[in-house]
Amino acid sequence: MLYIGIDLGTSAAKLLLMDQDGHICSIVTKEYPLEFPRPGWSQQNPEDWLRAVETGIPELLQGFDAAQVAGIGAGGQMHGLVVLDENDEVIRPAILWNDGRCAEEVDYLNQVVGRETLSKYTANIAFAGFTAPKLLWMRRHEPELFAKIRKIMLPKDYINYKLTGVHATDVSDASGMLLFDVEHLRWSREMLDICGVREEQMAAVFRSYEKIGTVLPEMAARLGIPASTVVAAGAGDNAAAAVGTGTVGDGACNISLGTSGTIFISSDRFAVDHCNALHSFAHADGHYHLMGCMLSAASCNKWLMEEIFHTKDYAAEQQPITDDKLGRNHVYFLPYLMGERSPINDTNARGTFVGMTMDSTRADLTQAMLEGVAFAIRDSLEVARAQVIEISRSKICGGGAKSPLWRKIIANVLNLKLDIVETEQGPGMGGAMLAMVAHGADASVEAVCARLVHVVDTIEPEAELAERYEERYRQFSKIYPAMKALFPEIV
Ligand code: XUL
Repeated sequence: MLYIGIDLGTSAAKLLLMDQDGHICSIVTKEYPLEFPRPGWSQQNPEDWLRAVETGIPELLQGFDAAQVAGIGAGGQMHGLVVLDENDEVIRPAILWNDGRCAEEVDYLNQVVGRETLSKYTANIAFAGFTAPKLLWMRRHEPELFAKIRKIMLPKDYINYKLTGVHATDVSDASGMLLFDVEHLRWSREMLDICGVREEQMAAVFRSYEKIGTVLPEMAARLGIPASTVVAAGAGDNAAAAVGTGTVGDGACNISLGTSGTIFISSDRFAVDHCNALHSFAHADGHYHLMGCMLSAASCNKWLMEEIFHTKDYAAEQQPITDDKLGRNHVYFLPYLMGERSPINDTNARGTFVGMTMDSTRADLTQAMLEGVAFAIRDSLEVARAQVIEISRSKICGGGAKSPLWRKIIANVLNLKLDIVETEQGPGMGGAMLAMVAHGADASVEAVCARLVHVVDTIEPEAELAERYEERYRQFSKIYPAMKALFPEIV
């Protein structure tokens, strides 16, 4: 049997074909554009995602027996607002997870509705990337379009709808809408009322590993796969990536260095961080997780390398950053190129280099950027540690995690052991594993993780270097508070 995993990311859809023993048979990446219509705004056309999947799957299957395809599962970029009209046509470009246009709606939700009330209804407070503030924004700024909405969907759910004709979502992705009662796994009537939407406009909620349907015959013919192919509900990309790295059960941790940077802590029990700085979401394994999300992680690297230094040779830029330089850089970087979510929740925050002198080099700036991302992830880890959550090791995944230097910096800045898994294919791999469970090949998410995920290496923090980074982190922690009041004046 073969399974297709879809990682519906922000810059591309990455599709993978996996056999039932977890071997990756092929991978196809289809890029699509990302629009920034104004500074801090971010949107994408759902039809571009669909085209990527529709053209990518036949390519993925070239040379393989497509009749063996038994399941499809997706891990998708979270929170994006996809709105469909009465004919299930897309009404406007999807407003994405890293879009900062909703600052006023976020203030209204957190201050007028109130953080405690939001937390009671949904286990979370409002962040600009979440879906509910985007609905309020649309209601205010695009009332004619808002009136046309018949279905409110998330990115991977739009693809699943096109595959199956079923309007479905899963508990992990629904958690990020601020419309979902995470503890009880149902839509929050109170939040739907606050946003002026009705429950029939929402998708049916499934567990991530449940089957939502099979592929529509016409779509199956177009993709070249059997119409009996099972489609799993799938998961938000972070929960799917956690499945892909075996981050399930109580107290396991995964760090993802993708466009966003996340720290994901799985838990058997529902829990809310008492200052709501971390997200409290359902996990794809049937339990829960806490998560801190920074908006620009590997994207800071891409920005610095490609936009500023005009190179694609990332390794060459990192090569002068030798071990003796680590923990000794006096240049710092605030990685807030799209504002920031966890833990500071500030849409006005901006990327900033601080501390340069005449002898600062291009490599020092690169190092500062890699370290700035690590420090910002540490900010979320500190919130988790303040909840008395013991974390001494983590898995790591995402494009940025392919750099040995960045992994070393992360291990030492966070003072964590980093476990490297044998096949790291993030959300796509997790999506395919969820499809295996939905198809009945494995009894549970835990079972498929135990069968397919193997740790092959561990990066240990080094006491002296971790100590040096401790001092650097203390310095870093002073920069944002010192600049916070300035940012709204310069945006
Ligand atoms: C998580 C988040 C991001 C996106 C990236 O809350 O917003 O990690 O899911 O695709």
